[in-house]
Amino acid sequence: MAFSALRPLWTTNFLVRKTAVKAKSDPVPIKAPTPPTKPKSKPGSLKAKSDGYQTPPNKVAGVTDDLSMLGLDDEQVKMDNNPLPAMSMKQAELIEKIKQEEENEAKKRVSLVVVGHVDAGKSTLMGRMLYELGDLSDKEKTANERGSQKVGKSSFALAWGLDALGDERDRGVTIDIATSHFDTANRSFTLLDAPGHQDFIPNMISGASQADLALLVVDASPGEFEAGFDRGGQTREHALLVRALGVRQLIVGVNKMDVVEWSQDRFEDIQDSMKPFLQAAGFAPEKTVFVPVAAMAGVNLAHGDELKLKAWYNGPTLVDILDKVDVPRRPLDAPLRYPISNVFKGQSAVSSGVGVSGRLCSGVVQVGERLRILPGDETAVVRTIEREDETVPYASAGQNVNLYLAGIDPIHLSIGAVLCPLSDPVPLATKFRAQILVFDIAFPLIAGVPLELFHHSNNVPATLSKLISVISKGATAKPSPRVLQKGVHAEVEITLRAPTQSSSTRAPVIPLEPAHINKEMGRILLRRGGETVAAVHMREAAK
Ligand code: GTP
Ligand code: MG
Repeated sequence: MAFSALRPLWTTNFLVRKTAVKAKSDPVPIKAPTPPTKPKSKPGSLKAKSDGYQTPPNKVAGVTDDLSMLGLDDEQVKMDNNPLPAMSMKQAELIEKIKQEEENEAKKRVSLVVVGHVDAGKSTLMGRMLYELGDLSDKEKTANERGSQKVGKSSFALAWGLDALGDERDRGVTIDIATSHFDTANRSFTLLDAPGHQDFIPNMISGASQADLALLVVDASPGEFEAGFDRGGQTREHALLVRALGVRQLIVGVNKMDVVEWSQDRFEDIQDSMKPFLQAAGFAPEKTVFVPVAAMAGVNLAHGDELKLKAWYNGPTLVDILDKVDVPRRPLDAPLRYPISNVFKGQSAVSSGVGVSGRLCSGVVQVGERLRILPGDETAVVRTIEREDETVPYASAGQNVNLYLAGIDPIHLSIGAVLCPLSDPVPLATKFRAQILVFDIAFPLIAGVPLELFHHSNNVPATLSKLISVISKGATAKPSPRVLQKGVHAEVEITLRAPTQSSSTRAPVIPLEPAHINKEMGRILLRRGGETVAAVHMREAAK
């Protein structure tokens, strides 16, 4: 599929579109603001909520120079003269309260990212599942069927449940992360449906960095599984990316089983091909589950009633598997770290003013709290917190929430910035030491070559400014190596560079924390020429 024809639509009155933006020179394709059928505003559904909000290309770090494009300077946002809310609890009390609540919670919260090669059926699968679990109504489903038929894309009717924006629907491809929610008997999921096309990998990374768990969808059709799993295919790339971003549990959904007549052999061949690769990528075999499904017909998602499948498969449905996934321990005691993945304008009475969305990597936040925004010297007060379409008085690590902020000019809010407590700001880095694991790359890494660094929704040019040592079994195996070959662990120094298109010659700064202090804030990816080349753990700032 070629996307060169896609061009951003710089229509006026568009506010900030969510997610990371490419540093490459090709423009970020952006969807038309009004979907043919407005999807149900799912809790935290960024697509539905941010409908019509756009981020211009290359506005990830320090998105401040052309605010007219963002449309955030309107009166409603600036003239926020309402009295500021007060904090209702001391921080320590709040943490204790949340710990108690989490212990007693009937349904544990988990964030799930759905990844995989383009057209594997990710959006169809999740659209179908939302429908089967009652989170997408018959009315919406019928409207999507009619709408997609009208534009000659009827096979994408279920995907329209998540692919809400114009360009996605016209082209039958997911471009941006869609966020939604669903519950199983024992778990409450935040769903992040990622794009599979390699042009939109920055968006996929932004979504994957907010997830505890991944569902990797592969297409069982003849030749299609192979296309995704061959070198350069996104099945491989996405598995490596989610693992490098800290996801340990993986469900592999072997989809379109209808196309292969529910063949047990095909399912087992796919399993056998993938297992060694996934294990080598760092997924423990006991935490990796394969499940045969057919998204379009809804087979083995919530119900496993296809006779041809039942003839050889008596394992769990996808929902059964999801209902038993592990729930990670949340770093509630650590200082708040809330990387902003989107900036938008609140549209309702409770959510007026400027809103940001993202996931708390650590800590807690409450209404009335004054927060620092980094990079920069600005602060803002949390006026409202919204979780799953409801306002709540506080939120905690692991939760995806929207925060509506008071006392801040939106010019100071950018995608990739981090909100933190006044007393405990996140460090900023331009040059730092890190440990890296070099992936299976064709050409070794050398010092000075241009790379792209991905950290949450930030995407900035960088280089390996020093190759300090190759590490083996925790000790230096080779000091000052000239190159880093595939598969090695190494200690390096990384320096961020000013984007080539930028008029500024100053190197950018991004909020980063050593991985041993805050895992989610210290995990980084390095890419080169459209390929992920290394997983990185930040160690310390370099002089
Ligand atoms: P991107 O997000 O663009 O990477 O694609 P995707 O993985 O979300 O795929 P999407 O859900 O858009 O579906 C792609 C095509 O596969 C559509 O035409 C679907 O109808 C088709 N499809 C999805 N699931 C199934 C299935 O179970 N069986 C069959 N036969 N086709 C399916
Ligand atoms: Mg999709």
